Amino acid sequence: MGSFFSFRKKSKETIELDLNSIPKHIAIIMDGNGRWAKEKKLPRTFGHKAGVETIRDIVKECSRIGVKYLTLYAFSTENWKRPSEEVNTLMNLLVEYLKKEVNELNKENVVVNNIGDTSKLPKICQLELNNAFELTKNNSGLVLNLALNYGGRNEIIYSIKEIAQKIKEGKLDVEDIEESTINQHLYTANMPDPDIIIRTAGEQRLSNFLLWQCAYSEFWYTDVKWPDFKKQDLQKAIYDYQNRDRRYGGIK
Ligand code: IPE
Ligand code: IPE
Ligand code: MG
Repeated sequence: MGSFFSFRKKSKETIELDLNSIPKHIAIIMDGNGRWAKEKKLPRTFGHKAGVETIRDIVKECSRIGVKYLTLYAFSTENWKRPSEEVNTLMNLLVEYLKKEVNELNKENVVVNNIGDTSKLPKICQLELNNAFELTKNNSGLVLNLALNYGGRNEIIYSIKEIAQKIKEGKLDVEDIEESTINQHLYTANMPDPDIIIRTAGEQRLSNFLLWQCAYSEFWYTDVKWPDFKKQDLQKAIYDYQNRDRRYGGIK
């Protein structure tokens, strides 16, 4: 197979992915669960349940092709605005997902991690998350980064507070603040910035996702709603990514 493998697009056209330039960090705004359900005249919760199935497949595929970090936007700091019934469903699904999948994830050598302020999540979610962190912390495969009660602005505030505290305690000099100082105090400390940000379901906005980290990320949008997003869609995104010219402000 060499460093390439092939898959067929719906059009039957063959696309080759270069396994030597798989993005290190893929971040996904998993959107469209509600609209997917509405289309089928089902309650929104059915969309969220179907969305969990997609997570399972995409995590597997990322592991298989050697992605190092996968960040999934699962619940934003703004999603608390939704009816409490829907918020509860999402929290329950998280618990269910972790309970059901953690052993399989562990077998696949996945490290479960999270970004966001989980202290505001129901205790049972925190418990299951901690359980997953503990079980998988010594693995060396894909880092599955769940963005839970995550907001980019909230994260920047968190980082500023941590830095301010260090200055107050005399552990850091104001003059020494640089990009890396901010990086090290974000939830994503020690992770590379996302190479590509994928958003499903047609919307073309960040919705407060990874504001600092996306400075040079490639964006990729699809109309496909999250429950319908398949590994072939992921492969298409990666293929497009591999054909982009990342200049970082320079000239090639
Ligand atoms: C994404 O689907 C899941 C979360 C934001 C938690 P949505 O629930 O936002 O689905 P739409 O956008 O209403 O279709
Ligand atoms: C972004 O989706 C948040 C998640 C996918 C968790 P939303 O559905 O909340 O975003 P908006 O409201 O359309 O911007
Ligand atoms: Mg949405």
